Amino acid sequence: MADLAGKRIVIAGGSGFLGLSMAAYFSKAGGDVTILSRSRPKGNGLWSHVSWDGRTLGKWQESIDGADAVVNLAGRTVNCVKTPDHQDEILRSRVESTRLLGQAIRDISSPPSVWVQMSTAHIYGDPPSAVCTEESAEGIGLAPTVARAWEAAFAESKLPYQRGVIMRTSFVVGRDRGAGGGALATLGLIAKLGLGGRVGSGTQGMSWIHETDLNNIFARAIAEQTMSGAYIVSSPNPVSQVDFMRTLRKVHGMPIGLPAFEWMVRIGAPLVLRTDPELALYGRYVIPQRLMNEGFSFQFAKLDSALKDLYDRAN
Ligand SMILES: NC(=O)c1ccc[n+]([C@@H]2O[C@H](COP(=O)([O-])OP(=O)(O)OC[C@H]3O[C@@H](n4cnc5c(N)ncnc54)[C@H](OP(=O)(O)O)[C@@H]3O)[C@@H](O)[C@H]2O)c1
Repeated sequence: MADLAGKRIVIAGGSGFLGLSMAAYFSKAGGDVTILSRSRPKGNGLWSHVSWDGRTLGKWQESIDGADAVVNLAGRTVNCVKTPDHQDEILRSRVESTRLLGQAIRDISSPPSVWVQMSTAHIYGDPPSAVCTEESAEGIGLAPTVARAWEAAFAESKLPYQRGVIMRTSFVVGRDRGAGGGALATLGLIAKLGLGGRVGSGTQGMSWIHETDLNNIFARAIAEQTMSGAYIVSSPNPVSQVDFMRTLRKVHGMPIGLPAFEWMVRIGAPLVLRTDPELALYGRYVIPQRLMNEGFSFQFAKLDSALKDLYDRAN
């Protein structure tokens, strides 16, 4: 665990699934954490909360004046049907909140020396079998377009002398701390019902990371002066969709996993789960090449140990 003792850290968009996990982790590592969000975070922790609207400057700026680090996670969930208004909000919630943080940083006397910016491994698109590293070509479609705009907003908003770290993060498996359990909560339910088999071809990649490793990488980005630029934040062992669900079923002790054909997902996902079928039908294999080169040690490099940890322990 990176040492954050005495560091004042602001997590914008910190009221959600990942933010609450990160706030708890940073506090445990000695950090003094403020969550900046529109709604009051559910649950309690050692963090404090400041309200903003994600669109306009205000008194909330005082929370980042003199802070050591700002972490920006703000963004509307992508786990929805991609109607034009949802697509618009997915883009704007990320780009506009990032630009706003940039304006705020220019408006205060003592800006944080490091800005850690969330992004997504979906920037590499949905290649069926290619294994992507930071060097790989970016993809096409909504998610890569949003990711590029998000990262561009960050590049223009970060102060020229400020250290900036971009986290191209894959699917995070973690616990529900009051703000939902992310996509794993849904997949776990599907697995328990005996429905967690092959989806479509089943060969689409599922790149994943345990929340503890994610939090440790973000903490390291705050503490280590050497970290800068874009990183893939994912375990070194991505798996296919079929293998992911087989491992999840095993952890739940469910021997049956009925398959879902593509047409079923295309009809069922929007109707039943109110989500985008393409999130299940497509995927990507990514490898955290830079973290591996820099000697980062993953606590949960293998999926079975990551899932067992999440389901075996109640904390
Ligand atoms: N979970 C994953 O596996 C994963 C993987 C890669 C990247 N990410 C990215 O990491 C970030 C956090 O993910 P999460 O799973 O914690 O999502 P989440 O639970 O939906 O939390 C999203 C956060 O963004 C804020 N937010 C939502 N809409 C906003 C808007 N219009 N303006 C300003 N803030 C807004 C929310 O706070 P308020 O609504 O209270 O303001 C909340 O704190 C997201 O940007 C997501 O795309 C997540």
